[in-house]
Amino acid sequence: MDETRINLSEKEMPRQWYNIQPDLPKPLSPPLHPGTKQPLGPQDLAPIFPMGLIEQEVSQQRWIDIPEELFSIYRLWRPTPLCRAKRLEEALKTPARIYYKNESFSPPGSHKPNTAVAQAYYNKREGVKRLTTETGAGQWGSALAFSCHLFGLECRVYMVKVSYHQKPYRRMLMETWGAAVTPSPSDQTESGRKILAKDPNSPGSLGIAISEAVEDAVKREDTRYSLGSVLNHVILHQTIVGLETKAQLKKIGAEPDILIGCVGGGSNFSGFSFPFFPDKKQGKKIRFIAVEPTACPTLTKGLYRYDFGDTAQIAPIVKMYTLGHNFIPPGIHAGGLRYHGDAPLLCLLYDEGLVEAVAYHQNPVFEAAVLFARTEGIIPAPETAHAIKAAIDEAVKCRERKEEKVIVFNFSGHGHFDLSAYDSFLSKKLEDFEYPEEKIREALKELPQV
Ligand SMILES: Cc1ncc(COP(=O)(O)O)c(C=O)c1O
Repeated sequence: MDETRINLSEKEMPRQWYNIQPDLPKPLSPPLHPGTKQPLGPQDLAPIFPMGLIEQEVSQQRWIDIPEELFSIYRLWRPTPLCRAKRLEEALKTPARIYYKNESFSPPGSHKPNTAVAQAYYNKREGVKRLTTETGAGQWGSALAFSCHLFGLECRVYMVKVSYHQKPYRRMLMETWGAAVTPSPSDQTESGRKILAKDPNSPGSLGIAISEAVEDAVKREDTRYSLGSVLNHVILHQTIVGLETKAQLKKIGAEPDILIGCVGGGSNFSGFSFPFFPDKKQGKKIRFIAVEPTACPTLTKGLYRYDFGDTAQIAPIVKMYTLGHNFIPPGIHAGGLRYHGDAPLLCLLYDEGLVEAVAYHQNPVFEAAVLFARTEGIIPAPETAHAIKAAIDEAVKCRERKEEKVIVFNFSGHGHFDLSAYDSFLSKKLEDFEYPEEKIREALKELPQV
């Protein structure tokens, strides 16, 4: 019970991903074609994704084998440790036990390569030569740059402009792994040029960068697009995180009471927590808490509707909680949480009341991050710090109620390239953006009629 670091051997690593689709309380609403607004067939997605991933997107098979070649790449950084945050517990004087699954162990420093290497693998297998993608803070872009290099694919990353300037080291990391990086909105695509014509100083958003990357991909026969979150196959690949966590908790005989993850598009939260849903279904009282920024409060303030996945309306329309595809969130440092929508799988479970959500301003989030850094040593990514803030709040509640709960959160990534954000926080220059109610109301008026 008292171990600080719970490790799995390579032999104990999961050999299959868990697909939650057959275990959902009701089926997902089908994705729609952005032009016809009719349900999408696999052939509609073929110019964007390879068939291997399209099959996973719609699969109803509960367990899907991890290919051997991919498994040997996972072993570069997996299994990742599950750590007990004892010093944080002591600082909080809480009777709760706090554990974190440390996904910052991967070469790019986050959970993102769990799906990036899988996506590069399936694309390579089908003869694709080049991948395009978007990135917010640069974690996803660097994960795909790294993965493309492993499989000999070219990589073009459209990086949200505000983050491109805030985080030059992430760009350098992507370039070191051989990717080409373009600040978005750019003049390289029609979607980018349209946005720049309206607002030459646009800070960009994930929605805009997705439009640019999809447009680039569909225009070239040798190119496909790769998305770092939101989609079912991305979440499927991320379930290796939750499956390992389950095995690690089992090793020490611990049962989780609360599972926490931050939510940008929903991949780390979902991959970490979904393998525990069958336990909840069987009656275990586990709470699942998704954490988002007040500046981009998709679950806590959005509507559960069909909306475009991107700003230029070329990506599929999916049913999700959304703030509207035209909503451009304020430039918070957690760039990876600035997405107007969320994963349809997560949204369905949230709508069914199986997942809770909370939203925080960035100053209290950084306060939590600094406390974590000063107790546990690791500097969290600003996105990850949202999960830490919620874990701390729950641990404090446990102190007040004298409850010995087991709180487990996903430490989705380190913040070694986010130090300018820490600098702003420490010098009290970090702005808390009010909940952008008016902008969201305007954006929600533009949801597609389906
Ligand atoms: C470290 C880290 N955590 C979390 C996220 C949020 O993404 P998701 O919700 O898909 O896990 C990101 C996205 O860039 C990230 O870089």
